[in-house]
Amino acid sequence: MAEKPWGGVFERPTDRRVEEFTESVSFDRRLYRQDIDCSLAHARMLEKVGLIEPQECRQIEQALQEIRLEIEQGRFPFRAALEDIHMHVERALIDRIGDAGRKLHAARSRNDQVAADLRLWVREAIDRLDNNLSALQRAFLLRCEKDSGVILPGYTHLRRAQPVLAAHCWLAYCEQLDRDRSRLVDCRRRTNVSPLGAGALAGTSLPIDRHDAAARLGFDGPSANSLDAVADRDFALEFAFAMALIAEHLGGWAEQWIIWSTDEFGFLKLPEEFCTGSSIMPQKINPDVLELIRGKTARAIGNLQTLLVLVKGLPLGYNRDLQDDKPPLMDSFDAVRASLETAAPLVEAVELDRPAIAARLDRGHLDATTLMEQLISRGLPQRTAHELVGRLVRKAMDRGVRLADLSPDEFREVHPKIDESVYDVLGPINAVAAMTSYGSTGPEQVEEQIRRWKELLSE
Ligand code: ARG
Repeated sequence: MAEKPWGGVFERPTDRRVEEFTESVSFDRRLYRQDIDCSLAHARMLEKVGLIEPQECRQIEQALQEIRLEIEQGRFPFRAALEDIHMHVERALIDRIGDAGRKLHAARSRNDQVAADLRLWVREAIDRLDNNLSALQRAFLLRCEKDSGVILPGYTHLRRAQPVLAAHCWLAYCEQLDRDRSRLVDCRRRTNVSPLGAGALAGTSLPIDRHDAAARLGFDGPSANSLDAVADRDFALEFAFAMALIAEHLGGWAEQWIIWSTDEFGFLKLPEEFCTGSSIMPQKINPDVLELIRGKTARAIGNLQTLLVLVKGLPLGYNRDLQDDKPPLMDSFDAVRASLETAAPLVEAVELDRPAIAARLDRGHLDATTLMEQLISRGLPQRTAHELVGRLVRKAMDRGVRLADLSPDEFREVHPKIDESVYDVLGPINAVAAMTSYGSTGPEQVEEQIRRWKELLSE
C-alpha cells in the first residue's frame, strides 16, 4: 500500500482488477520525455523559489536523466500497480534519492502534470506534422516541373469538364496542405500554454513561480485559470480535427490517383515499389498504399468523434475520463504521420503517361466553354452563347467529331459572328492557353503560382 502516493487514508489495498482497469502506463509511457522535462522544469523552479535546496535539485536532475536513459534503453520496469507514467517516474526517483525525490511533488498534482505533458506532446507532434506537410508540398511542387506542359482533363461530377494543366492540380494540393499547416500553427498557439502549478484544480499556497516553469519548457506563459488548466482539452480536440482534415485531404488525393492509375484511365503509373500484389491473381499490381491512406481517414475521423464524446458534459475540473484522450489522439498522429511519410516519396516517384493522356484529351468537348467565352467577348449574351455552343456540340456529337473538326461553314450556320478565329480557342492546348484570370489554369497564371510556391517552400 505504501507504494501508492495516496496510501495514507486507505486501509485496504487496491483490487488487482482495479489496478489493471485504471492503469494508463501502457499508453501514456509515450509521454515519458515530456513528463521528465516537466519534472526538471518544476524542480528548477522549486529550487529558485527556495522550496528545495540546490543540492536536492542536482540530485533530482541527475536521477531524472538516469531514468530517462533507462526508459530509452528499454530497461525501465513498467507495471500496472503504478498506474501511469507520472507515478512511475516519481517512484523511480524516490527509490534512487529518497527524501529529495519526495519533495518534487510539492505544488504539483498529476492533474496539471498530465495536462502539461500532453500539451508538450501535442506541440511536438504539430511541429513534426508540419515538416511532413511541407515535404509533401515540396514533392508536389517538384512534380510541377516534371509535368511541365502536361494538360489533363479537369472534371466536375467526375465528368470531363475543361482542360487543366497538371501543375494546376499539383498546386491545388499545395493549397490544401497549406491550410492544414496554418490550422496546426493556429492550434499550436493555444496549445503552448503551461498548466504547471495549477495543482489539482485550485493552485497552491506555496510561493511558486509559474512563469519561470512555463518559460523553462518553452511555453508562451502560464494558464490564467487553474480550474480551466486541468480541465481543458480543447487543444487536443483541435489537433485531432486538424489531423482529420489532413487525412481527408490525403484520402481525396489517394482516391484521385487510384482512379487515374486504373487501366480505364491510364493517366499515371504507380511505381512498383509502392504497389503490392495478389496471392491468387498473378497479374495484379495493386494500389494498396493509396487505399490504406484513404482508409486511415476513417480512423482520424473516428478518433475525433471519440474525443468529442469523451469530453461531452464533463463538469469543471479534472475527471478521470480524460485519461482516455491519449489513445485516440496518438492513433490519429501515428496514422496521419505514416500516411504523409509514405505519400511524399510516392508523389515524387509517380510517372504520368503523357501519350495516354494526350490520346484521350480530345474527347468530351473540353473546349466548349472557351468557345462560349469567345462569343461572349464578341458581345453575345452568355445565355445566347451557351445555347449556340450547345447546338455546335450536339452537331459534333452526332457526327462523332471534335468541335475543331467542324467546318467554318458549319460554325457560320449557327451564328454569323463565329468566324475562322474560332479555331484559335479550340483544342485543349488553346483552351488552356486562353485562361488568363487570376488563379486560373492558364500557363502564365500557373507559372506565377509556381514561383510563389518556390519562394514559400524555400524557407
Ligand atoms: N493517468 C491520469 C491521466 O492520464 C493522470 C491524472 C490522474 N489524476 C488523478 N487525480 N487520478 O489523466
